[in-house]
Amino acid sequence: MAAKQQGKCLVTGASSGIGKAYAEILAERGEDLILVARRGDVLQEIADGLSAAHGVEVEVLPADLASRADVRKVMERIAQGGVSMVINNAGIGGMAGFLDLTPEEHLQMIEVNVTAPTLICHAAVKAMKEAGGGTIINVGSGSGFTISAGPSVYGGTKAHVAQFTQLLNEEFAGSGIRFQALMPGLTRTNLGNASETGIFDRLPPERVQPPEAVVRASLAGLELGEVVCFPRLEDYAQWETARDAISSLPGKQGNAIAARYGT
Ligand SMILES: NC(=O)c1ccc[n+]([C@@H]2O[C@H](COP(=O)([O-])OP(=O)(O)OC[C@H]3O[C@@H](n4cnc5c(N)ncnc54)[C@H](OP(=O)(O)O)[C@@H]3O)[C@@H](O)[C@H]2O)c1
Repeated sequence: MAAKQQGKCLVTGASSGIGKAYAEILAERGEDLILVARRGDVLQEIADGLSAAHGVEVEVLPADLASRADVRKVMERIAQGGVSMVINNAGIGGMAGFLDLTPEEHLQMIEVNVTAPTLICHAAVKAMKEAGGGTIINVGSGSGFTISAGPSVYGGTKAHVAQFTQLLNEEFAGSGIRFQALMPGLTRTNLGNASETGIFDRLPPERVQPPEAVVRASLAGLELGEVVCFPRLEDYAQWETARDAISSLPGKQGNAIAARYGT
């Protein structure tokens, strides 16, 4: 069992799905929480339930993470102190193709999936570096690595999460900050309005994980020191081999332009 955090755990997207499961499982473990999402009433109901069930302190911080002003509110709360774990989980996704969404919808996805976690990480890394430690989990997706026709902007935002988190982990090695990019597979939540579209009900049940199982894997992965956590991957060495192969590729041949380009 992991040691209790020194400070509070801030979870974005805590009103539903994977974020709500993080809040519930961390509260079960006696952690105090700060819950972030747009629906403040839903967060308050979750907060009251968790405080009553587990005797933990739960703050509610309603914020629209597509709004820079609201992202700043979250950053300011982290800078105030007493936050030792940040889980950047809030996200927008779905199966829509590139031209099925408007430029504004793409922009909103980038704001919530990329800009907000990047800025929130800035506040968190700064505070945790000064405090001598902490934990940051950024929720990506298997779509960040899968190459197939599908939601391209969503996949791109989740590739950012994986690369960004791994590079932060390198840059802040020795700072006492633990980093994890969680890359879930299909998880039964309301992502892309799934409760209305019924998309998860049309898939074989064994292909869709419950959010609680994904969160327990993430927290176990932290203890294992996995910087990129794939809940469904049986053999972690396969990931390490793939990562090292890709990472060494661009620099392997020196810096001369390849002969096939005829330059
Ligand atoms: N479900 C899957 O199959 C799956 C697979 C891989 C990765 N993921 C990732 O898991 C994370 C959590 O998603 P989920 O599957 O749990 O979906 P979900 O049930 O739809 O939950 C999304 C959460 O994000 C919050 N959110 C959305 N837009 C927001 C905004 N503009 N500002 C603040 N909060 C916002 C929502 O709260 P409000 O509506 O109250 O704001 C909600 O709490 C996402 O990053 C997603 O990409 C999911």
